[in-house]
Amino acid sequence: MTSPSSIGAERLKRRMARGVEFLGSEVAILCGAMSWVSERHLVSAMSNAGGFGLIACGAMTPELLDQEIAATKALTSKPFGVNLITMHPQLFDLIDVCSRHQVSHVVLAGGLPPTGSLDAIKGNGAKLICFAPALALAKKLIRSGVDALVVEGMEAGGHIGPVSTSVLAQEILPEVAEQVPVFVAGGIGRGEAIAAYLDMGAAGVQLGTRFACATESIAHPNFKKAFFRANARDAVASVQIDPRLPVIPVRALKNAGTELFTAKQLEVAQSLNDGTVEMAEAQLQIEHYWAGALRRAVIDGDVEHGSLMAGQSVGMVTKEEPVADIIAQLMADAAHALEKRAA
Ligand SMILES: Cc1cc2nc3c(=O)[nH]c(=O)nc-3n(C[C@H](O)[C@H](O)[C@H](O)COP(=O)(O)O)c2cc1C
Repeated sequence: MTSPSSIGAERLKRRMARGVEFLGSEVAILCGAMSWVSERHLVSAMSNAGGFGLIACGAMTPELLDQEIAATKALTSKPFGVNLITMHPQLFDLIDVCSRHQVSHVVLAGGLPPTGSLDAIKGNGAKLICFAPALALAKKLIRSGVDALVVEGMEAGGHIGPVSTSVLAQEILPEVAEQVPVFVAGGIGRGEAIAAYLDMGAAGVQLGTRFACATESIAHPNFKKAFFRANARDAVASVQIDPRLPVIPVRALKNAGTELFTAKQLEVAQSLNDGTVEMAEAQLQIEHYWAGALRRAVIDGDVEHGSLMAGQSVGMVTKEEPVADIIAQLMADAAHALEKRAA
């Protein structure tokens, strides 16, 4: 293992300096928000270990988010952020909750910031982080005033875009990494990959799958066991059944729930046919389905019928470990890679 004072460790520190400054953390590693998983325990463990935790607001009401932020603050004095989904019907109330708590970083997921949301978040002094699924959108987001970007490829767990992390990183980092900090996400399981993306200009990285089964994660033991058993090829993207009903693909471990999603899509498509729902409502029903299915697996431990959202890096998750150990291993491997590279 590389010692903290080695040349590799020094190089890693330099490469992470910008991300660390932006986040106010010790290392530029975010634990991506994971609905039901990223609550007070995992988030505070992440920030206490020197990384950066994010509360997944998901479908929480403003009251629940208020409680979760307060409870997280009781467990850590280090900075953490909140991830909000743009299509949440009470988005602006949630933004208010974040500002009342003086949350330092807000991540908006699920699309471009709706009108007024950027000003509402930044006006209260928080830094705004958005997902950039393509170079043109990255430039547009920077022009509109976002403070940092996450570039997430389709290897990731949860909702995904169509392009791989390696291609997005090559397209986006050289063009925009000097303007705002860019954090790369999707498929990162080891420190060697972190070193590579930092070398390409990333300010840091965001990992989800690798942290989902940490000791501090409240995910059900069955959920964790399913992760430990799985390989990269078990984490598959959902398939769109009806061409008229565009569903955002979700990457999850294959199980009986994969079939249930097909049935759900057919049911929603039928309602569209009957004219009993509009397209926007149809898409919301699909998203509610995912939230429920994920809860079933994460909280109830039903790993057959629930959704086991996981990225392709799941094969590198082999045991339950404290967050601090995972971060230490990632940092040691990244430092070692940078040391070898320069020889
Ligand atoms: C179980 C699970 C749930 C997730 N839920 C969310 C979410 O609610 N909001 C979000 O923006 N991203 C969500 N993600 C994506 C993560 O925040 C993170 O960006 C992703 O896991 C990074 O890729 P990786 O899984 O390859 O490490 C989820 C990922 C997983 C594995």
